[in-house]
Amino acid sequence: MTENFEWNDYEIIGFASGIAYKKFYENVNNAAEMMPGGKKVFFIYTCAKINSDFTNEIENIVLERGCECIGSYGCKGYNTYGPLKLIGGMNRKNPTEDELKNAVEFVKQIEMAYGN
Ligand SMILES: Cc1cc2nc3c(=O)[nH]c(=O)nc-3n(C[C@H](O)[C@H](O)[C@H](O)COP(=O)(O)O)c2cc1C
Repeated sequence: MTENFEWNDYEIIGFASGIAYKKFYENVNNAAEMMPGGKKVFFIYTCAKINSDFTNEIENIVLERGCECIGSYGCKGYNTYGPLKLIGGMNRKNPTEDELKNAVEFVKQIEMAYGN
């Protein structure tokens, strides 16, 4: 996070991350642990294989902070986990153009539903 970042400048906050061991990256979870209550929060992730459970841990963190979870979007992302990097990785074409468009659409929908 940048030095000048102020949580209270924002009412809606999005966390974006790759997935490691079925969770958002630890530093992203750590950032969520620091947020003040009362925010609306959404999540975006890339992973090897889609599973809606990937947001469970960070959603719990956010709920414990007294914030509201308002949606998530996930898609496949380029994966170089372990030996995969030796063969050039997996999901080399992800996110696709369509997946990126869907991510943008997802954020626009959030803005329409919850923005001022
Ligand atoms: C150490 C490690 C663990 C991972 N664990 C998972 C996992 O549990 N489930 C999954 O679907 N993808 C997993 N992946 C794949 C990444 O989530 C995926 O490649 C993601 O697009 C990486 O995003 P980034 O390049 O922005 O970091 C893992 C990748 C790494 C390197």
